[in-house]
Amino acid sequence: MPTAPAREITAASRLDNVRYAIRDLACVADEVIQQGHNVLPLNVGDPLNFDFQTPPHIIEAAYKAMRDGKNGYAPSPGVPEALEAIRGEAVRKGITTVRDVFVTAGVSETVDLCLAALVNPGEDVLTPSPDYPLYSAVLCKLGIKLNVYDLDENDGWQPELADIQRKVTPGTRGIVLINPNNPTGSLCTRQMLEQIAEVARRHNLIVFADEIYDKLILDSENEKATPHLAFAAVAPDVPCVTFGGMSKNYLVPGWRIGWGIVSGDAAAVKTYTEGVHRLLRARLCANHPEQYAIKPALEGPQDHLVEVRRKLRSRRDLTQKWCEATPRVSCVAPRGAFYAYPKIDIPESDEIFVKELIRQKHVMVVHGSGFGQKPGTQHFRIVFLPDEKTLTKAYAGIAEFILERYGN
Ligand SMILES: Cc1ncc(COP(=O)(O)O)c(C=O)c1O
Repeated sequence: MPTAPAREITAASRLDNVRYAIRDLACVADEVIQQGHNVLPLNVGDPLNFDFQTPPHIIEAAYKAMRDGKNGYAPSPGVPEALEAIRGEAVRKGITTVRDVFVTAGVSETVDLCLAALVNPGEDVLTPSPDYPLYSAVLCKLGIKLNVYDLDENDGWQPELADIQRKVTPGTRGIVLINPNNPTGSLCTRQMLEQIAEVARRHNLIVFADEIYDKLILDSENEKATPHLAFAAVAPDVPCVTFGGMSKNYLVPGWRIGWGIVSGDAAAVKTYTEGVHRLLRARLCANHPEQYAIKPALEGPQDHLVEVRRKLRSRRDLTQKWCEATPRVSCVAPRGAFYAYPKIDIPESDEIFVKELIRQKHVMVVHGSGFGQKPGTQHFRIVFLPDEKTLTKAYAGIAEFILERYGN
């Protein structure tokens, strides 16, 4: 029987601005791979792509949970022993006003649920620029107009307080703080956290403190110390959800385990927390057996972190030296996580720079415009997870490319 030609099924127009530059570049890399070249991937923040291994006792805990039959649905907020371990971690971080904790499929799902539970049409949430792009993607998905505040490159990428104050509108409901920061590698000072808390108090905002990299602080003199300052510890009264997870600190990004810790004035966060739980129930549960690895991870041996930070510190130093020695490149030294966000002085867009770099030198970094940046500036994000030999080769390729394409 003749049928009418199929008509195109279009995607929702609110997705028009959903971009994830980190993975979108894969198409360009595929072209190069099809021509028979290897691409050096300095684009995705997955330590397991390099010489980092998941601590065996964590794997054993998840495996044991599977063998013990923990393969059905879990309780929607998470399994009790994981929740208790996360509460313990909050206390160790100095968070004294914990009101609720819940487990999610990675911090990605925490971000999704926490934003969805907060904003109504016409309202907004302040997000940093540059930004980890998931925040703007989720807000676009929810049909929310973006309201970004600048991070100040001239002040070590600290949030620009005056810009935050300027951008708060009557419809602003919350503020996202990524600390340690992706993509800049910066750490917020105590004073900055206190000042942001003051803005939150004045305008009745909830703070989403994304602290997924809190154990990857590279400037600590004393390895035993945990120098990361949790926002919720600095401002116990301010409504806050602290985002944490297993992906980075415990080297299991593929397990998809994250969590939220709700803190602040109990009455102020009650209704919002109930909203989050409605969404938690609607999506049934987070990955079940992996949740049994949360307690062994948070409470067991932390030796792997000493080794991870040692490697990252050496790779950060190499990266910083290269940035200082390379014409047209300058960089605020990263202090946490595994990203550097150099500025580059070139007469074309950083997106063209990055795509041509992949095509010509087979090195993959991510353009600054994929994260948001001040107009007229250009940057690229480096993931400095590879070993020193690989990084040295990649940096030689980038330096050569800059010289050939733009001169000194
Ligand atoms: C700042 C930040 N938040 C959240 C995430 C997502 O983490 P997860 O693997 O827990 O979903 C990432 C991943 O790179 C990140 O950099």
